[in-house]
Amino acid sequence: MKIREDFLPLSKPSIGEEEINGVVACLKSGWITTGPVCKKFEDKFCEITGAPHAISLSSGTAGMHLMMLSLGLKEGDEIITPSMTFASTINMITLCGAKPVFVDIHYDTLNINEELIENAVTGKTKAIIPVHFAGAPADMDGIMNIAERHNLVVIEDAAHALGTRYKGVHAGGFGRNAIFSFHPLKNITAGEGGMITLSDSQLEQRLRLLRFHGIERDAWKRYGKGGNPEYDINEPGFKYNLTDIQAALGLAQLARLEELNNRRRELADLYRENLAGVKGIDIPGVPSYRHVHAWHLFVVKITSMSRETFMKNLAEYNIGYGIHFPAGHRFGYIKKLYGVMEERLRETELAADRIVSLPLFPDMENKDVSYVCEAIKEILSHG
Ligand SMILES: Cc1ncc(COP(=O)(O)O)c(C=O)c1O
Repeated sequence: MKIREDFLPLSKPSIGEEEINGVVACLKSGWITTGPVCKKFEDKFCEITGAPHAISLSSGTAGMHLMMLSLGLKEGDEIITPSMTFASTINMITLCGAKPVFVDIHYDTLNINEELIENAVTGKTKAIIPVHFAGAPADMDGIMNIAERHNLVVIEDAAHALGTRYKGVHAGGFGRNAIFSFHPLKNITAGEGGMITLSDSQLEQRLRLLRFHGIERDAWKRYGKGGNPEYDINEPGFKYNLTDIQAALGLAQLARLEELNNRRRELADLYRENLAGVKGIDIPGVPSYRHVHAWHLFVVKITSMSRETFMKNLAEYNIGYGIHFPAGHRFGYIKKLYGVMEERLRETELAADRIVSLPLFPDMENKDVSYVCEAIKEILSHG
């Protein structure tokens, strides 16, 4: 086959006139940091997810950090999460003094195996953090059941899951704690940014303060006409706020969520059709329960050659790729702290050596998917 001349990236944000106009309007408004546009973004987010509260933040990682602080962790406390997740969760758990306890995944969806969670619960367990991997919902009924029996907090890592539904309910819409991310690779972007959704009003008040130094009122209210510029601080906080410039971008993207996710779904279906039955590659599985997949990523597993060789070949065809994710239990600092744990994480181990993310973004054309699939068939046939 003829090799394309231009590079097909792993991902590229879909930015249209609405996004540009929204950002320009904010720039001209006279208020560009956290203010009325962030508030609008949060309100719209509640409407879409069904969550009672939403707090906009500088990143999903900031959201995870605040959620970890809300648990009041002590040295030795344990948090259950898959090793097949982004490093930031594992880092936040560790930096807050707790121990990440990894539970194995389902090889096909890369989601945590809910049946293995109970065995990992100890007297020190404080929370479970399932990841809705690539936009496929984890089995929330199974997870909530265990959490309720053991009185554990559940924090949904919904960084991949804007538009994801589990049995009709949006991720984070169970009224529980969830974090979302607006990194440029995600289903919608705000340049960077994140959101916490939750139902507990008291916790919401506390996290809002922790988001911005612990200061009691939003700056945009303090500096408004007749506002009181004084403030008190009862608990020191961080500088984790989102700007209105970012929220303007996020808000315009949110208005297009359905369009963007529908296009992702079409492209994922095309991949699945084109790659079904091809030897040497496992295509992503989908959950057996009723769900809506957000197709944040399209992660295949290469079974007939080394992933390194496969990726080298993709590069020769001018195709971008990624690895989501290098498994957390293999990180140097984790091994140093907790030793090796391959035995317990069989499916994670198997997946970790094989996974490759293929290009998937709304502005991709159908012929791009066909090109990638043809290239993959050629690469694998030369095995
Ligand atoms: C599964 C997962 N969790 C958390 C995050 C953290 O989000 P952010 O990059 O906005 O800090 C990401 C983002 O890359 C992610 O993929």
